[in-house]
Formats: sequence, structure tokens, C-alpha cells
Amino acid sequence: MSITIQNLKKSFAGIVAVNDLTLAVADGTMLVLLGPSGCGKTTTMRCIAGLERPDAGTIAIGGRTVFDGEVDVPINQRNVGMVFQSYAIWPHMSVFDNVAFPLRVKNLPRDEIAARVNEMLAQVGLAELAARGASTLSGGQMQRVALARSLVMRPAALLFDEPLSNLDARLRDRLRVQLRELQTQFRITSVYVTHDQHEALALADQIAVMHRGTLLQAADPVSIYSRPASSTVADFLGYSNIFHIDARKPVDEGIEIAFAASRTVLRAAGPVPDAVEIFACIRPQDIGIALDAADASRPDNTLLGEVMLASFMGSFMQYRVRTDAGDVFEVFSNKISAEIKLGARVRLSFPRQAIHVLSS
Ligand SMILES: Nc1ncnc2c1ncn2[C@@H]1O[C@H](COP(=O)(O)OP(=O)(O)OP(=O)(O)O)[C@@H](O)[C@H]1O
Ligand SMILES: [Mg+2]
Repeated sequence: MSITIQNLKKSFAGIVAVNDLTLAVADGTMLVLLGPSGCGKTTTMRCIAGLERPDAGTIAIGGRTVFDGEVDVPINQRNVGMVFQSYAIWPHMSVFDNVAFPLRVKNLPRDEIAARVNEMLAQVGLAELAARGASTLSGGQMQRVALARSLVMRPAALLFDEPLSNLDARLRDRLRVQLRELQTQFRITSVYVTHDQHEALALADQIAVMHRGTLLQAADPVSIYSRPASSTVADFLGYSNIFHIDARKPVDEGIEIAFAASRTVLRAAGPVPDAVEIFACIRPQDIGIALDAADASRPDNTLLGEVMLASFMGSFMQYRVRTDAGDVFEVFSNKISAEIKLGARVRLSFPRQAIHVLSS
């Protein structure tokens, strides 16, 4: 079932939480809402679920209008499942009883409840733990109980609000993969809230970047990651090198830009937006790094500097380099080098395509 949101607005005592948001989630896909704290992600979810009454706008689930100002379908008739950061499972009940709870509320026959719960527990890998008290479970197991309890209702849509943020990093990685598997297997239309860019890129069919209650850009992960629409979007997606540009001029096959603070000059491929405020946005893995030999030739678009930080990250090296002009760049390199260490003189190279010149 698709979800369609049009011109959604919601304020709390004068604070605009969601401001004219329009979004569509295609049937069977996952849309990830990505954005900083306070940008309106949870409020949007609560409006979809029926936990919050919007000030204006329309919401339809599976083509059925659930809110439009006049229509306001109550939460228990929207058939939407929810999984939150806090697991919200009942500690005094067994795993089985937790998952069976919503079906018992609906007064389904005992046999059907048992069959559906057991099937669901098997699918989320909890069959062996059916009789366990929920309070004895690990965080990851609790979150799978919460997921099973939502899925057992066969909801039209599932809403996830930072469901993995209370878990440790390894468990989070594993559950993220499981979640993606379950979501694609059940083809259940989902909205997933996070402020973790890795989680967003890994899970989403579509990423919607929100900022101050409005939508900045919505696209599939590869498109949004390779072509962010603005420096604010780029910032959320891990373009950690962002510099204000205050001068530009066309050169052969591109544009020459000057950094406002340092007067550093680089050449970018373009295009350059027709905006007053523009920024050079560069991903750390797109910058080349090499030791600077005194006699080396210095090709176009290179800057010299000194390594201020070198961290081994397992599959890559993370560097912080201060150029002679005073710019600080974050650089990731998958060449593990013992020579490029703290204090080393290095040469950074910037392929023209790597420099995205964007408005704010
Ligand atoms: N019940 C409420 N009463 C008053 N203000 C609220 C209420 N709920 C949300 N807000 C405000 O609305 C704005 C959006 O909040 P929301 O919870 O939607 O943000 P969020 O994107 O989910 O943030 P986070 O990442 O921190 O969870 C914030 O400024 C918040 O303080
Ligand atoms: Mg929130």
C-alpha cells in the first residue's frame, strides 16, 4: 500500500514542526526520513499513524484518505504498525504473549493466533525464545519482538522511529541487514526515521532529507549520494569537507573557485548554481593523498599540507590534513600507508568531478 502525504503542516504552540511537507512512499518500498534533531521526523510519523492531528494537509494510505481536515481516521483503524527506539514491549509477558497481544485484542480464534505468532517468531529468528520472559531478552532480541508484534498484524504500512539507536554498533549492523531482508521479503510499505546516514543509505529505496520541517530532497540512495541538491543535503550524506566560495570564473571545461576564508583556488567540473551563497562540497574518499617528495611535479588541483591526524579504521585510513593556506580537509584512503603519519608532508589531489559546487 502506498502512502501519500500532501502539504502536511503541524505546529506546537507556535513552533512549526512540519511545514508544508509533500512525500510519497511507493507500495512495498521503504522511505527513510533523514535529518537533524528537531527537524520534524517523529512528528511526521505520528501524523501518519494518527497519533497527532495535523493542522493542514492530506494523508492517504493505500489510496484511502485517512486525514484531510474533515476525514480523520482513528489510529486503530489506520492499520499502521509502529516500532520505536524504546522497545515498548511488556516485560512481565513471555515473547509469545507479547507478539500474540494485538491478535488477542482483536479476538481472533486461539488456533489462528498460535499459528500466526509461531510463524512470525520463526521469521524473525525468535522461535526458540517463545516461552522466555521478555525482561530476560537482550536489546536486539527485544527489538525483534517489537518488530514481530507489528508484523503479525499484517499492517498496511510500518513506521520505524530510530529503532536501532539504542543498540551497540555490531548488533545495529546485523539488525539493519535483517530488517532490510524482512522488509524486502514482506514487501511492506515502510517509513523509517534515522539521523544516521549509513543506516539511511543501506536501508532506503528512497531517502527524504528533512530540515526545519521541510523536505530538501527525495531520491534513491545512489542518486542523492552522488548528486546532493544542496550543501545542507551534502552535509547529511557525509560530504565532510564544505567550504564557502566567494569567487568563481569559467575556465576551460569547468570553473575556477576561490575559498572565502583561505583564498585557496581549485578547479571544479561544474555546473555551478546561480546562487549568491555557494559552497564546495567534497567527500573525504574522493580526495587523493600522497607523500610530498620535494622534487615531485605538482599537477593541477593539488594542495600541500601536513597530516594532523591519522587513524587506522580497519578497511581504510582516516586523515585530517591542514594545507599551507590553513584549510583543514578530512581524507579517507583505502591505501594503508605507514609513511603517511602525524606530521608528514603530503599532497592532496582533487579530481574536478569530486568538487560539487552547491548552494546552501
Ligand atoms: N508535543 C510537543 N509539544 C511541543 N513541541 C513539540 C512536540 N512534539 C514535537 N515538538 C517540537 O517540534 C519540533 C519537531 O520535533 P520532532 O520530534 O518531530 O523532531 P525529530 O526530527 O523527530 O527530532 P529527533 O531526531 O530529536 O527525534 C521540535 O522543535 C520539537 O521540540
Ligand atoms: Mg524523533
